[in-house]
Amino acid sequence: MEQEANNLLCTDLPTTPRPGMGKVLVSGASGYIGGRLAPELLARGYRVRVMVRADSPEYKERWPGAEIHVVDALDKESLKKSLDGVYAAYYLIHSMLLGQKKFESADIQAARNFRDAAEENNVGRIIYLGGLGDVNTRLSPHLRSRMQVAGELRNGRTPVTVLRAAVIIGSGSASFEILKNLVKVLPVIPCPTWTRTHCQPISIRDVIKYLVGVLETPESAGKSYDIGGGEVLSYQKMMQILAGVLGKKRFFVPLPVSITRLYAYITSFFTPVPARITMCLMEGCKNEVICKNRDIHDVISFKPLPYKEAIARAITREEQDRIHTRWSDAYPPAHELAIKLRELPRPPRYTASYSLLTSKDSAPLFNSICRIGGKLGWFNSNLLWRLRGMVDRILLGVGTLRGRRSYTDLRINDVIDFWRVEDLKPNEMLLLRAEMILPGKAWLKFEINGPDNNDMRRLSVEAFFDTRELFGKIYWYIFLPFHRFIFYDLIHQIEKRS
Ligand SMILES: NC(=O)c1ccc[n+]([C@@H]2O[C@H](COP(=O)([O-])OP(=O)(O)OC[C@H]3O[C@@H](n4cnc5c(N)ncnc54)[C@H](OP(=O)(O)O)[C@@H]3O)[C@@H](O)[C@H]2O)c1
Repeated sequence: MEQEANNLLCTDLPTTPRPGMGKVLVSGASGYIGGRLAPELLARGYRVRVMVRADSPEYKERWPGAEIHVVDALDKESLKKSLDGVYAAYYLIHSMLLGQKKFESADIQAARNFRDAAEENNVGRIIYLGGLGDVNTRLSPHLRSRMQVAGELRNGRTPVTVLRAAVIIGSGSASFEILKNLVKVLPVIPCPTWTRTHCQPISIRDVIKYLVGVLETPESAGKSYDIGGGEVLSYQKMMQILAGVLGKKRFFVPLPVSITRLYAYITSFFTPVPARITMCLMEGCKNEVICKNRDIHDVISFKPLPYKEAIARAITREEQDRIHTRWSDAYPPAHELAIKLRELPRPPRYTASYSLLTSKDSAPLFNSICRIGGKLGWFNSNLLWRLRGMVDRILLGVGTLRGRRSYTDLRINDVIDFWRVEDLKPNEMLLLRAEMILPGKAWLKFEINGPDNNDMRRLSVEAFFDTRELFGKIYWYIFLPFHRFIFYDLIHQIEKRS
């Protein structure tokens, strides 16, 4: 409990909790920002309703006492019910993971539906966190979409508070993971022209404080505020400071060209963040993102963390394996990859199962299963997994570099390299769903059964593959001999290390 209290960010907020104001809705609660905001509101005594697109049993533990509504903002009717009886609604929905071509229209539609549903339900106010950027310049599609969403939300009767932020520094933030991995991996860092653009980064803890602070400041309703840390820095300077904090000697080579998309694509091979996201974010790096109005300091006054301290805190949390939310938590469930094994209309046609008998107990075996992937890798077959991941990255997929949120703890919806945890029953079963580019859908299920009469347990791994394409069938049979080798090795190593 004490540890939980220490993790809270708003303990030194100058504003006072006002739980009597009514119910507070957090949309995008499964995302990076929403996942950190919800516990702060609950800790301050608010009645909280969280809105997610796919339910997970783990959410009840994560947000005890919160009402959980499973709603897609693109579905107008169900959205109306979620805003019923709500006084204040946070709008933290973002579809960047859909990729550049699709996210703009999806984000606009979701914002329109949300605004209309809020109006119909007489919601008192909406609070939206968007992006910084000068509307009079040519903004990247990502930043432009952030502005359009603000415009759509404001286009109704419900007062909207808009907070505009640039790069957010915190453990698990996509922008921070990109910068950190570039600095960690490359001894010589090429610096295209956009790395000289200025930005005003802000720490995640300060963003959460502002989000909570405006809720507790009624006069902020209907206003727009720029929020940022104390320093304006170029991206190159941000990397230089980061290299200093990490104790790395790095050479920064200025380039006379911008090459944003190519740079973003190449970068995706060195960072856990896939190309679809690095491209969206780096396009935005050509735009200056600094605070133009300082009005926020008149309503919520505290000193934001300096950049150096923000990165030191983020790195410490990562080192202590205490990342709360991560950019990879959000994944569009509307995407066909998110179909669950049990939701298939018929069982997958292609399956392969491998097992062994062991005298070990379920608990150590299960702990060992739960440590696969990420830094520890996939044991002896690491090279094959990495090669598969590399092919996936080349094809703009997620690859194996996403790693894991935590090296010890695993929860439903967590990412393990190019897998996602679909189901988990402690000491019994772990089901992973593939998110790599495949000519079909794939799952991997680890199970522990027994003990039998001889006190032995069966540790098994089963691969499922569902495809209708001819290429999918060929793919399955090409990889079947490798599966035999890889999966046998995997369960033997799991057993050995348990
Ligand atoms: N993170 C940053 O560094 C940063 C910096 C500046 C500003 N911001 C702003 O902060 C806001 C939140 O960003 P974030 O980083 O938390 O984003 P995120 O991690 O990508 O989360 C986005 C959330 O939106 C939800 N969502 C997407 N489409 C939806 C739909 N149709 N219906 C319902 N929910 C939907 C996702 O749910 P699923 O899990 O179901 O996909 C997820 O919970 C955004 O407006 C962003 O521009 C973020």
